Amino acid sequence: MTVKSGNESSSRREFLKTSGRVAAATTLAGLAAPRVHAASDDTLQVALIGCGGRGTGAASDALSVKQGPIQLVAMADVFQDRLNGSYQNLKNRFDKQVDVPPERQFIGFDGYRAAIDSMKPGGIAIFATPLAFRWAHFQYAVEKGMHVFMEKPLTADAPTSRRILRIGEQATAKNLKVGVGLMSRHSRHLQQLHERIQEGAIGDIVSMFAYRMTGPVGSAFSEKWPGTPSELLWQIRNFHSFLWASGGSFNDFYIHVIDHCCWMKNAWPVKAQALGGRHYRANSRGNRLVDQNFDVYSVEYTFADGSKLVADGRCVAGAETIYSSYALGTKGMAIVSKAGDCGPPSSVYPGLLPDRSKTTWESKVGPDENNPYQNEWNDLVDAIRADRPYNEVDHGVKASLVSSLGRRAAHTGIEITYDEMFDDDQEYAPGVDTFTMDSPAPVRADADGNYAVPQPGLVTDREY
Ligand SMILES: NC(=O)c1ccc[n+]([C@@H]2O[C@H](COP(=O)([O-])OP(=O)(O)OC[C@H]3O[C@@H](n4cnc5c(N)ncnc54)[C@H](O)[C@@H]3O)[C@@H](O)[C@H]2O)c1
Repeated sequence: MTVKSGNESSSRREFLKTSGRVAAATTLAGLAAPRVHAASDDTLQVALIGCGGRGTGAASDALSVKQGPIQLVAMADVFQDRLNGSYQNLKNRFDKQVDVPPERQFIGFDGYRAAIDSMKPGGIAIFATPLAFRWAHFQYAVEKGMHVFMEKPLTADAPTSRRILRIGEQATAKNLKVGVGLMSRHSRHLQQLHERIQEGAIGDIVSMFAYRMTGPVGSAFSEKWPGTPSELLWQIRNFHSFLWASGGSFNDFYIHVIDHCCWMKNAWPVKAQALGGRHYRANSRGNRLVDQNFDVYSVEYTFADGSKLVADGRCVAGAETIYSSYALGTKGMAIVSKAGDCGPPSSVYPGLLPDRSKTTWESKVGPDENNPYQNEWNDLVDAIRADRPYNEVDHGVKASLVSSLGRRAAHTGIEITYDEMFDDDQEYAPGVDTFTMDSPAPVRADADGNYAVPQPGLVTDREY
């Protein structure tokens, strides 16, 4: 696999060397780094960039934090209707905590800059756009001295993964706190199970199974671009359909169960081989679908000790729903997520079957800490207020890269190692930091309205 020279594309070894140096520098810098204060009256300022479903949810969680005053002061999106809907929703529920007059509502690809500039250093920037824009937004926020909460996944390719790891180190050096929306890690149930597994409750993990098999989700399956809005804006609106925008259904939907299994194992896989395919290229109305996704995926990840994680994803209406995760060890097994991305309770059994009558342990969490989305905000704001180190970039990037590893193995039909993936030089959406409303879309439809799709075995050096 080719490796680009220069800043953005150093090899993994080079990266590790540099990151060692940066880490050392960071430790020293950390000692001297000034405490980044919130606004002088102790109110934490928040700016929301990407005012869709999750962005509105994250802002709502932010405004529900109980540790001191917190206020939403700016919003940015590329669609006016999205910003309006989000603003009304938040204003209705949080009224005085939402201080976003029209002059602090920004529409356009550079709106994130104005929204970030609306805060005093030490504010929190929320990034909940499709992942393609994550690195550019993150870079600017860190430059401006802002704490960050950014949604998963962080990346769809290797160059942006390496870039975000570097920006993450700069954030630590500036004593900025960074949360990443892999909320499984803030589920108190999964945290309890993680502790149990470290204590040996199921022995050594030998295999794990992660399933998210449901009907069609989000914008994963798209009909032909209707010609308006622009192809770029239409792809952004249907971001689950395009690998450059979201990493596709694989990264967007399956990352949580993959991430929390790797967390239980305390390791990232060293390689992946995978199956995947597309049964249906028409929707229930009989209209042709032109997106880049498969509708089924099955990835076998291998860890350095030979243990495996099998991650199965399916978006097929009418097929059985299985949405849960399991860890099997030398002394027993655990249900990690009972239902959904991290649904409680987690539990432990002596054999290889989850026989309820033999449950040896089950997670228990009080009502105040049952919502992992709220927990992740409470934890971030606690760290900001107490000035404790807090940076989730490393596992945020690695979970994204491991998702891309599995997706790529399925899309090419070729086994790929983590190191090969890390060193890869294909960036799916170069130049997102200079996009304007008139920019061309990173992938273009052919004359029939079709987009390039993966062809395992036929196209193996790239995904499409
Ligand atoms: N942690 C979770 O459980 C969870 C759940 C849902 C979504 N998410 C993540 O949140 C992100 C957003 O997902 P969503 O479901 O809210 O999608 P959405 O389409 O509802 O919202 C995305 C918003 O970002 C806006 N946007 C796109 N590009 C922009 C840009 N360059 N600048 C400013 N605004 C821009 C869109 O117009 C839209 O309003 C995705 O990365 C998704 O994976 C996480």
